[in-house]
Amino acid sequence: MAKSSPTFTCSACGASYRKWAGRCEACGAWNTIAEEAPLSAGPSSKTLGASRGRAIALTDLSTEETPPPRTLSGLDELDRVLGGGLVAASAILVGGDPGIGKSTLLLQATAAFARSGLKCLYVSGEEAAAQVRMRAARLGLQDAPVALGAETNLRDILTTLDAERPDLAIIDSIQTMWADTVESAPGSVSQVRAACHELVSFAKKRGTSVILVGHVTKEGQIAGPRVVEHMVDTVLYFEGERGHQFRILRAVKNRFGAADEIGVFEMTGQGLSQVSNPSALFLSERGQASPGSAVFAGIEGTRPVLTEIQALVSPSPLGTPRRTVVGLDGGRLSTILAVLEARCGIPFAGLDVFLNVAGGMRVSEPAADLAVAAALLSAREDAALPPDMVVFGEISLSGALRPVGQTENRLKEAQKLGFSQAIAPSRSKIGGGDGLRIKQMPDLTAFVGDMFGA
Ligand code: TYD
Ligand code: MG
Repeated sequence: MAKSSPTFTCSACGASYRKWAGRCEACGAWNTIAEEAPLSAGPSSKTLGASRGRAIALTDLSTEETPPPRTLSGLDELDRVLGGGLVAASAILVGGDPGIGKSTLLLQATAAFARSGLKCLYVSGEEAAAQVRMRAARLGLQDAPVALGAETNLRDILTTLDAERPDLAIIDSIQTMWADTVESAPGSVSQVRAACHELVSFAKKRGTSVILVGHVTKEGQIAGPRVVEHMVDTVLYFEGERGHQFRILRAVKNRFGAADEIGVFEMTGQGLSQVSNPSALFLSERGQASPGSAVFAGIEGTRPVLTEIQALVSPSPLGTPRRTVVGLDGGRLSTILAVLEARCGIPFAGLDVFLNVAGGMRVSEPAADLAVAAALLSAREDAALPPDMVVFGEISLSGALRPVGQTENRLKEAQKLGFSQAIAPSRSKIGGGDGLRIKQMPDLTAFVGDMFGA
């Protein structure tokens, strides 16, 4: 048998190479390639397996099995992000920066699921059982019927799972797990992949749901290859800005529900508490009407969320003026600035531009374009927008305003929060928000004329 040579794998995209290189040719990332223990040679394609896999006709599957049973934890923010509760035998990855509150969230979730009648096992590879118990006491969960384990050896964990047969197992974290069949350190690409594979297969075979905790690298990916994200059914990210109390649980992939759904939490001294009205929270820091502030009526998943977009524009001492963006896409800002200049004749050359979404929220909807433009114009003209107005609409390169989805939900939420006027694109189907004064604009030029009387 040929001696297997070592392989080198990119921890960002999973591409493999014969020799080490500083930069991955596949994804362009630097310093992500590391040596990986060779996988043992599997059967060649010529030898067929002795046991045949059984094929089942789709129509033969009993109808009772679909849809899969779901369990609600009672934590509404979590249940919604999961797509309406925890699906039996599903594998979920919860990623986030170290210290953001993943262990806290999952301990609270475990206790909630245990109280809903699931048999739960929480395995910590990072803390001793006594430390987990201390945390539980701090969260007021010391009486929850949850089994704890402090273990990192994957074989021992699988043995325990097999013996205990819990309905839900939490593995905190996947980077601390160690499979003795793989010759590399815990946290390495091959270890993470092996541990994830074993746990996910166990989940599918035995009907246990598993939640894997994964730390995120500086580049914003789960440490270990992207492959892990493909192996699980659901990928949730727990995010938040340092210095802010708010934490957002965001579904980025979900086989059993809507992606882009968010759950909002607040970190307190007694753990995470749910925020059922995030709009009120994100707008709570808003003071008097001030230039550079616009309220965007957005949609996150299935829920409307109002956020404040803030802009600051000032003369730049630099040859190339600054463009600083927090919570929005920088490319989108450049496009909007270019459209304002080319279609409305409003230049931003020689001006520094700072753009921010208040409250540590991240907005990725194109519908935010008009709110961004409104905040920029308001800052540039030093004229405050009406404080009781919400704005939404996508800006096309021609400067036209494109209608966006879920207009009714956006308007209803705005009305609920006490806003009295709204600006929407011309061709939007208006419904809901009966108490609102709604102005519909065909393009950006009309908006500029109306707001700033150009
Ligand atoms: P933790 O859940 O340990 O983070 P992770 O598992 O993602 O690394 O959370 C750690 C932070 O949360 C820590 O900085 C302290 C803070 N925290 C609170 O503010 N209140 C609490 O009740 C708990 C348990 C933690
Ligand atoms: Mg932790």
